[in-house]
Amino acid sequence: MEFRSFKEIEVYPTRDLSYDFLGIHFENPFILAAAPSTDNVDMVRRAFDMGWAGAILKTTSVEGTRVDLCYPMMSTFDHEGKKLFGMGNIDLISEHHIDKVEYNVRMLKKEFPEKMVAASIMAGRKEDWQSLVQRLEEAGADLIECSFSCPQGNIGEDPGKMLAQSVSATELTARWVKEATKKIPVSIKITPHVTDIVEVAKAVKRSGCDALTASNSIQALMGIDIRTFSPYPSLGGRSTYSGMTGPAIKPITLRTIAEIARNVDIPILGTGGASTWGDSVEFMSVGAGVVQFCTVVMHYGFRVIDDLKSGMSHYLQEMKFSSPVEIIGRALPNIVTHDDLPRRTIRSHIDEELCIACDLCVVACRDGGHMAIDQRPSRIPSVDHERCVGCGLCQHVCPVDGCISMQVVP
Ligand SMILES: Cc1cc2nc3c(=O)[nH]c(=O)nc-3n(C[C@H](O)[C@H](O)[C@H](O)COP(=O)(O)O)c2cc1C
Repeated sequence: MEFRSFKEIEVYPTRDLSYDFLGIHFENPFILAAAPSTDNVDMVRRAFDMGWAGAILKTTSVEGTRVDLCYPMMSTFDHEGKKLFGMGNIDLISEHHIDKVEYNVRMLKKEFPEKMVAASIMAGRKEDWQSLVQRLEEAGADLIECSFSCPQGNIGEDPGKMLAQSVSATELTARWVKEATKKIPVSIKITPHVTDIVEVAKAVKRSGCDALTASNSIQALMGIDIRTFSPYPSLGGRSTYSGMTGPAIKPITLRTIAEIARNVDIPILGTGGASTWGDSVEFMSVGAGVVQFCTVVMHYGFRVIDDLKSGMSHYLQEMKFSSPVEIIGRALPNIVTHDDLPRRTIRSHIDEELCIACDLCVVACRDGGHMAIDQRPSRIPSVDHERCVGCGLCQHVCPVDGCISMQVVP
């Protein structure tokens, strides 16, 4: 085996990851989402020192707003040994009111002028929305994100319901916020819990706001203790619905971003399920301009930024892209309606050299497919091409990469 010296191996980012988005300079596409990690100025300082391009400070409100937290607030959806595959929280907005957050914005902008410092806001009344945005713009925030999608509901007239679930309320409130700004961009953080996400995105566009943050956590019931019948997280035997975040929700977010990007011309900040540089590429390829991270940071720490940056850098190099901007929207032309999909004859092919005779494809096809995979005396399975329809189930249950492929029959 040939060994290369450490110096020869490119371990550090080799591509410039910086670009402009929404009129703001980002040193890379990776920013911290509004969450516990951005509720403490010392934590944000540390994150910036480690290389995060920006942060959305946890959602704040006007002085006097009651923020009545309950503990414990976290629970987890572990799957087959993977911890925090989905994470549930019953957190609310920040306990820090605007006076503290405007101070934090000032401090951070002074110490880190090159970083994107954004603040997230939530209110009930028009005058409160407007005062929040004005005070934060005055303090030097680069962007305002409006939380219209807290899974625990909205402050104001209709508690328990998310603002972004009403197209008319979204448009009206977004207009109030935008009217009150002088020049900083405003992004509306929406929820995928709607019948038609495109209608919500169009309402934000009509309001004059600059961007969408898509698309927050998924409302979920995290689990039930089957001996006590207490839901999770259990607070003395009781619980409420959580906002679920983390890898489990990535496909929902991808669909939401793609659906908006295919139908409405508006910049998108992606959030919901991204953990790796590859996830970021996926988010950007369906239309996100930058990507926000929360659960992965709560799980593994700010240090994941090293991996995000070096992975993205190597990816750009491999793809011969000169900037992350070249990724934005690249996958969109490939997302079509079912009617527009190609109709081809496909059959499963098993590579006998790679097969480990585990039987998983045999059982899956027998009980969930078309009974098209037979086990031979050698235990290496064989595909009956008369019965196989090419559904692809066997390929997905196979534990060996590349062992089963779907091949087009000429
Ligand atoms: C504990 C916790 C608290 C959060 N608080 C807020 C918040 O105050 N405002 C907000 O807009 N989003 C909040 N979020 C949502 C995150 O900003 C993010 O959109 C969500 O976690 C999905 O991203 P992820 O899968 O990378 O975690 C919170 C998430 C968690 C886990």
